[in-house]
Amino acid sequence: MAIVYDIESALEVLRGDDVVALPTETVYGLAARVSSESAVQRIFELKKRPLFDPLIVHISKTTDISKYVLKWGKAARILAEKFWPGPLTIVAPKNPDTISDLITAGLPDVGIRMPNHSATLALINDLGEALAAPSANLFSKTSPTCPAHVATDFPNVMVLDGGNCEVGIESTVIRISEDNLKVEISVLRLGMISKQEIETALRDADLEFSMTVGKGREASPGQGSIHYQMKDALFIVPEEFEDSDVSALLKDNGYEGDFRELKFESKDPLIVARNLYSAMHELSAQSERLPATFRIAAYMRGEHWEAILDRISRASQREVE
Ligand code: TXA
Ligand code: MG
Repeated sequence: MAIVYDIESALEVLRGDDVVALPTETVYGLAARVSSESAVQRIFELKKRPLFDPLIVHISKTTDISKYVLKWGKAARILAEKFWPGPLTIVAPKNPDTISDLITAGLPDVGIRMPNHSATLALINDLGEALAAPSANLFSKTSPTCPAHVATDFPNVMVLDGGNCEVGIESTVIRISEDNLKVEISVLRLGMISKQEIETALRDADLEFSMTVGKGREASPGQGSIHYQMKDALFIVPEEFEDSDVSALLKDNGYEGDFRELKFESKDPLIVARNLYSAMHELSAQSERLPATFRIAAYMRGEHWEAILDRISRASQREVE
């Protein structure tokens, strides 16, 4: 597997119409130049990602927005100014001349963000073109927060090593609908930029708006209930469960004997988010195949925890939708 440390090697591969895994502050992305239809196609093939699931476009400077987006209103400007570079993706009407239907899965809107990672920002700058990049994991599996995680799913893809991801879970995704009369924000995916922070930023700018939380595939095609899966089954259990209660639950689900725990030393959601996918990858990497449990506790309250529990709860779904 090729782990590289220099931007030049990654640039060469991207210019040659191939894909490279790149660091961001949230998770590693599997990137292609937006104008390279064949490389974008390869992302879907490598990930085994259904074509109905659109890709996020990554830019390095706000002057690039107008190249890829047709309509960028006041709310979008305020939020981009406040949170970029950072883990917020804004879905807005796309420029069909630069953003293909493959990237947006045929939708008229594009999800766009400026990631907060110096290597990737420098690379996009040098390239002079935005990158389409989903998380660098197989469809419905655990997302990667370091190069080794990428290599487990894609041993033959070049990875630009940018260390461990600081945030650890994917960006908050919002759709903004703006006309002269009203601004509507719809939250499509929870993340470490909270609804409250978004509301505060808009209120501070004296903007009137309404906010809703969209649920599931109707809101955003990638928000299916099965996602982030480990190799083994994961069960969410109440904190008061004794080992015997856990064993009984597992037995009901066809598992006899031992189990493991997905757990974190810290109670700080920022630290748990940073370590979440590594802990899941570690369980998957163990040689024994045993089910895992996650104990849900009373302190896991608030929007940051909500975003983490969203990931854990979807990782625990194994039934066919
Ligand atoms: O933090 C992140 O956002 C990472 C890093 C690599 O930037 N990327 C990421 O991409 O998580 P991905 O493809 O794993 O998830 C993108 C999510 C999906 O749920 C997708 O449906 C939604 O964003 N999305 C992208 N474009 C959209 C659009 N035009 N309309 C609605 N939802 C969109
Ligand atoms: Mg993903």
